[in-house]
Amino acid sequence: MKIIAPSMLSSDFGKLVDEIELINDSNADWFHLDVMDGVFVPNISFGSPILKIFKKFAKKPLDIHLMIVEPENFIDKFSDYKPQTLTIHFEAVKNLKSVLQKIKKLNIQAGLAINPDTPIKDLKPYINDINMVCLMGVFPGFSGQKFVKNTIPRLKELKKLIANNRSNALIQIDGGVDLSNVKELASAGADILVSGSCIFNSENPNSIIDSLKEESNT
Ligand code: DX5
Ligand code: ZN
Repeated sequence: MKIIAPSMLSSDFGKLVDEIELINDSNADWFHLDVMDGVFVPNISFGSPILKIFKKFAKKPLDIHLMIVEPENFIDKFSDYKPQTLTIHFEAVKNLKSVLQKIKKLNIQAGLAINPDTPIKDLKPYINDINMVCLMGVFPGFSGQKFVKNTIPRLKELKKLIANNRSNALIQIDGGVDLSNVKELASAGADILVSGSCIFNSENPNSIIDSLKEESNT
């Protein structure tokens, strides 16, 4: 069964608790939470005060995507929000192995995200140290961007890399996922589909979640 993880960045923060309840009551599986620092990416999103609200009201796993430089300085802080997964960026960290280890020691699943222009083969040294690869379908920073087509062949290459190295890492696709590509992504090997604007820009987010779920499992 594929996992649908709504990106809350596209939700209405003016009624955040209602938006969280909407996801609690939906067929979505995880909350995808995008933390941006304005340095690693050209945008600032949210941090601790908002994450506290998710910790309090969310009844499904929190999947925190850190788009920040030097994430190693914030692992302990973010572990306070009891995420299921903490994802750091390949491009943002020098000592990746030790940061991944730090996440896992806290009993949190370690995710590693890569930008559309980072070669898949660069992940090889880490592929057995991680629980999830977050393959970006857009350049990180904003929701509502157009899906980068090259993500499909990259997904196939990643799938091979994981199999060849007998890794258990799941594959998450983040950015530009919608009803036009979810089926192809799922059948090419994606396990977790993150989707933001497609869900929250709709009049009926629940029906979009249901369609994403259905399309990804056919
Ligand atoms: C991009 C974020 C994504 C984004 C997804 O930097 O990591 O999670 O919010 O939004 P959509 O689905 O609108 O591309
Ligand atoms: Zn994200």
